Amino acid sequence: MAADRNFVILGHRAHTAPDWKLDDLCGGAGRLDVLVRCVTAAMWISHGLRRDTDVWLLLQGPPAPPVAVHFCGATVRYLNPDERSTAALVRNGLVKLRNRDSVESSPGLTLHRMGLTELLVQLPPPIILDEAGDSDAFPAPPLTLVLSDDRDPTEEEREVLASAPHICLGERSLLSSACITLAHNLLDNQ
Ligand SMILES: C[S@@+](CC[C@H](N)C(=O)[O-])C[C@H]1O[C@@H](n2cnc3c(N)ncnc32)[C@H](O)[C@@H]1O
Repeated sequence: MAADRNFVILGHRAHTAPDWKLDDLCGGAGRLDVLVRCVTAAMWISHGLRRDTDVWLLLQGPPAPPVAVHFCGATVRYLNPDERSTAALVRNGLVKLRNRDSVESSPGLTLHRMGLTELLVQLPPPIILDEAGDSDAFPAPPLTLVLSDDRDPTEEEREVLASAPHICLGERSLLSSACITLAHNLLDNQ
């Protein structure tokens, strides 16, 4: 069953094999630093996890895209608030995925060879967070919030999300992780 709050992060260059080092998340891993920062923002509150929240990192970089990495708030274990250890969980997942279609690499962390369209049909209705969006009102949960990494969504991704509400959180382009914090706060106060 899907969580009340789902975050999908589009990782345009994030590598789909463990061919990178934990010391090189920004470079060799294809800006995985942006994605794992989003995991921390989405899952963590002070001294605990949001058990009503799931995160899906969509890795779309070389060599075998796409791979969806699912952090399930209700069941995840061994998740810590620092980016390096979250990246280590993703790396371990990619090692275990190898030639499989999907794998649970640690409790509450699963990897699947699927892309955005296939992912969205399994989740509550999507909303895209977009600097150029025309709405500022979140529907009531359950919902799925889609964000991009440091790059704008591709034309193909925009087409998949064309009928979803486009929500703007203000005029300035913010870090994806900051948008997640703001979205949680708005939903917490709904
Ligand atoms: C760093 S921004 C994307 C890249 C940016 N447009 C650029 O030119 O570098 C990361 C993502 O955060 C979300 N975002 C950033 N600012 C936003 C805002 N003001 N309102 C809604 N979403 C925002 C969007 O999903 C965006 O794709």
